[in-house]
Amino acid sequence: MNIRPIKKLSGDITVPGDKSISHRALMIGAITRGVTRVKGLLDCDDCNYTIAAFRKMGIAIKKEGDITVIDGKGLRGLSKPPAPINAGNSGTTMRLLAGILAGQDFESTLTGGEGLYNRPMKRIVEPLSKMGVKIRARDGEYPPLVIRGGEVRPVNYKTPIPSAQVKSALLFAGLYSKGTTKITEKFKSRDHTERMLKTFGANIGIKGTSVFLKGDIELTPKDLDVPGDISSASFFLVGALLLKGSSIKIRNISINPTRAGILKILSKMGGRIKIINKKNLFEPAGDIVAEYSRTRGITIDKDMIPGIIDELPIIFVLASLSKGRTIVKGAEELRVKEADRINSMQEGLKAMGAKFYLKGDEVIIEGVEKLAGARLKSFGDHRTCMAMAIAAITASGESRIEGAESVSKSFPGFFGVLANLSMA
Ligand code: S3P
Repeated sequence: MNIRPIKKLSGDITVPGDKSISHRALMIGAITRGVTRVKGLLDCDDCNYTIAAFRKMGIAIKKEGDITVIDGKGLRGLSKPPAPINAGNSGTTMRLLAGILAGQDFESTLTGGEGLYNRPMKRIVEPLSKMGVKIRARDGEYPPLVIRGGEVRPVNYKTPIPSAQVKSALLFAGLYSKGTTKITEKFKSRDHTERMLKTFGANIGIKGTSVFLKGDIELTPKDLDVPGDISSASFFLVGALLLKGSSIKIRNISINPTRAGILKILSKMGGRIKIINKKNLFEPAGDIVAEYSRTRGITIDKDMIPGIIDELPIIFVLASLSKGRTIVKGAEELRVKEADRINSMQEGLKAMGAKFYLKGDEVIIEGVEKLAGARLKSFGDHRTCMAMAIAAITASGESRIEGAESVSKSFPGFFGVLANLSMA
């Protein structure tokens, strides 16, 4: 894919539904007895793997226009899949599904594509084993996972790394135990699972960074409206901040405080960002307005990382073109995403002339005036690809990104939306 520099971004758009919320809607809908209708579910590779997985376990999921209808069969209503379940390259599908399979009275295998082959799974295998679940991973760490579900004991567990995927897997497993499961994180990760379980009638409480869930209670179906994905929106927000004369509005975006740390970071960097038309549904949402701004470097501490984990690639792009130094502390979880995103972003941005260094566990970026067009790679990673595409539209000269099809993992229409916003 060749990308030319453009003058500015301008327009009023929507982006597709939130990926994390979409996965949870499918999963929770499938284990709730009755019909759940979901408006605006994200149509992308990852969510389609979750849909295929539940269909293999006897759950009818159909599309009626913009509505996805899930005919759930209750907590223990899944049927044994006839073959291993393929999670594709979706870490969320594999990790969260493991929690649900922990409670099913059959043995199942979760496999994945090349992109999942080296993603760490011990983080769920260890605590699920503590809950009495028989679960095995290749070399104790990697997919495939073999799970013999059935009996689940409640657990009181402190997660060593803040991860919403780990927390959610354990909460899902906790739904099948007879007692109260308590999960405590060092820093709070995104709370979409907690919000949705509560909406579906689960007995769930939150105190600080601890979540308590009382298991063995059937859920009640609810209709859901999925707001737009802030991770997808953030590429255009940064593009607008960087290009002189830009002004964009992105409608109905999830602004859940455990997820939307990017908005705070952009404002702290001097970005002119406004949230209007706020709505408070099961997930808070609003329209976000962004205008060209002169941005400056900041220090981002470790406690901010969970709230911006997926937005760090695009924050690196903004930092590369902001005045002064940006320091990002404790972002090592980026190394175990779809690609090693510290490495992929460092290589891409340096090829364009950015000043990007590593010092211990810190990423240090010194802003430059302008980046130059270059030959770039997606590293098979959707977010590296979209972040580098935004860097490329601001650059002097044309760029080329190898592997641009990777965007279909979360945002198949990314280049189309970018073209609609672009004023040459
Ligand atoms: C996700 C949680 C994050 C994030 C991923 C989606 C989720 O991963 O990077 O894209 O839906 O729970 P971790 O929880 O492992 O940090």
